[in-house]
Amino acid sequence: MVSYKEIGLVNTREMFKKAVAGGYAIPAFNFNNMEQLQAIIQASAETKSPVILQVSKGARNYANQTLLRYMAEGAVEYAKELGWEHPQIVLHLDHGDSFELCKSCVDMGFSSVMIDASSLPYEENIALTKKVVDYAHQYDVTVEAELGVLAGVEDEVAAEESHYTRPEEVIDFATRTGCDSLAISIGTSHGAYKFKPEQCTRDPKTGRLVPPPLAFDVLHEIEKKLPGFPIVLHGSSSVPQEYVDIINANGGKLPDAVGIPEEQLREASKSAVCKINIDSDSRLAMTAAIRKVFNDKPGEFDPRKYLGPARDEMKKLYMHKIINVLGSDGKAE
Ligand code: 13P
Repeated sequence: MVSYKEIGLVNTREMFKKAVAGGYAIPAFNFNNMEQLQAIIQASAETKSPVILQVSKGARNYANQTLLRYMAEGAVEYAKELGWEHPQIVLHLDHGDSFELCKSCVDMGFSSVMIDASSLPYEENIALTKKVVDYAHQYDVTVEAELGVLAGVEDEVAAEESHYTRPEEVIDFATRTGCDSLAISIGTSHGAYKFKPEQCTRDPKTGRLVPPPLAFDVLHEIEKKLPGFPIVLHGSSSVPQEYVDIINANGGKLPDAVGIPEEQLREASKSAVCKINIDSDSRLAMTAAIRKVFNDKPGEFDPRKYLGPARDEMKKLYMHKIINVLGSDGKAE
């Protein structure tokens, strides 16, 4: 048993309280590899933004959870080396799907876990979430739960049918589970294809898809029921069209990829939404940079020569999200 406190991580409790009161959101960036982690830490240290490092089931399968956990420990030291005296870094399990998985993450030094039992019937969601909360809270590890179902595919999480969170359930759910934050469904979805073309309109000038707006009415109703309670948005990549264009111009094929407009995420950040999950945008930044190097310099075969530019591009993206979308810069001085 390793406590996250021994390795310099923090849980989400204070972070979320300040974010809700301050009208900003904490970035939750997924990571699977060193370059992503370096870019996240460089961007957070430079902007002094609190940050949540997320490890999904897919990441655990790809990179090994022990390795990722030690990378997060290294990240704390790296942040200090970069001059961030008091790094505010959370190591969070994204989409935990069983008690055993959440327990193993708590035991190995994660400071926050998500139990995603949103696909189960309501009472089973409550029972499993409460079991995880009861265990995690013994070690002061915070727990994110989910109500409502998001569309889209992310790693090994896929849902055919989505439905919005029902505001009439949130008080009962939060009270009976004791969860620390709640992921809700208001129209975001995982991946780079968040909406089908038939759900969108098309901008006549650019020919690009314009997605339907998020259900802010549902968000506001939830906020009214649970004033000040930390709300989480998954599936919040905006799928920057400049990356899609670079990818498509350099041999890629991402037709009609579309995300959540950043103005809407900015608006959500000002509400009780205090954690915004972003994974696909970093994948797109990385892929765009690598494809461009491969196309421009076909003779290049030193991974540092294409992973380096990919890392720089991801750092740029993370800084942009922190400063211009979530407003979390300067909140962890
Ligand atoms: P995106 O696919 O929109 O980046 O969402 C990631 C996410 O919600 C991870 O849980």
